[in-house]
Amino acid sequence: MTLNILIDCDPGHDDAVAILLANKLANLTSITTVAGNTDLANTTRNALALVELLGTNIPVHSGAYQSLGGEVRDAQHVHGKTGFGGTDLPQPTTEVASEDAVSHIIEQARAIDDLWLVAVGPLTNIALAIEEYPAIVSRVAGLSIMGGSTGSGNATPAAEFNIWADPEAARTVLTAGLNPIICGLNLTQQFLSDDDFVETLAAADQRVPSFIAELYTYMHERMDAIVGERRAALHDPCAVLALTHPQLFEFEDMYVDVELSGELTRGMTLFDQRRTHARNPANCRVATKIDAKKAREVLLSTLLDNSST
Ligand code: BDR
Ligand code: CA
Repeated sequence: MTLNILIDCDPGHDDAVAILLANKLANLTSITTVAGNTDLANTTRNALALVELLGTNIPVHSGAYQSLGGEVRDAQHVHGKTGFGGTDLPQPTTEVASEDAVSHIIEQARAIDDLWLVAVGPLTNIALAIEEYPAIVSRVAGLSIMGGSTGSGNATPAAEFNIWADPEAARTVLTAGLNPIICGLNLTQQFLSDDDFVETLAAADQRVPSFIAELYTYMHERMDAIVGERRAALHDPCAVLALTHPQLFEFEDMYVDVELSGELTRGMTLFDQRRTHARNPANCRVATKIDAKKAREVLLSTLLDNSST
């Protein structure tokens, strides 16, 4: 059965890899963009440039430029000012299909019977779609998210970036009854790129793998500067692989909510993992383990397959 995916993203290095995977392993119906790793103009430009690099005509719809609460966050210290630090893709020649990602998400959910939403940026667009069309919860096949953490955060000690960038949106989405699959930092930090990964891609000497190699050369330099290690978590690809290769994952059903008001914990995902008391009823599927070796094989073979693209 065809896996139809709409990806909502803020490219972003790992967003780019997630898009490539979705394009190769599923039917990627469209891309919607949100501000996150960098501003909306850049995340949208990057999505369009990537679509052109792939030689496809996947429509790109731009969405929210700020959080529901009007905050504008970014992760340019990690992804560079443009969001695609370390690369210089040409300015795209194509335009966005619309500047109304929210309407597009709703239209697609209505039009396609078994659409999966994959959200790998701040959850603003998805939250707005749920607010405008609550029945989307039962219309879509499901939602796979990269966001949150059952342990430490990254944007703050408590909060992961995608949730921290728009906690109100995250609460709306996570508690809407979609029973989302959640790939948080606890999972994605098991799945790392390293110099071998980059060298394997670069050795193919093909456009798309070389582009990913450039992205991750830059990312490893940033990680070396920030944490002293030339490795980076391949966060966003996990949200795609959890759908295309669920056999590589272990999942646990849990209850999750988002902290909105904590002085130190705003944007934290609170997972009910109690062992000594009855837990709150589960409302999500948390990916807890990934077979990183096999997942890397899948990732590399997918990126290198048909690498004339
Ligand atoms: C998430 O934040 C972004 O910087 C990445 O693209 C990923 O979606 C990781 O916390
Ligand atoms: Ca992202």
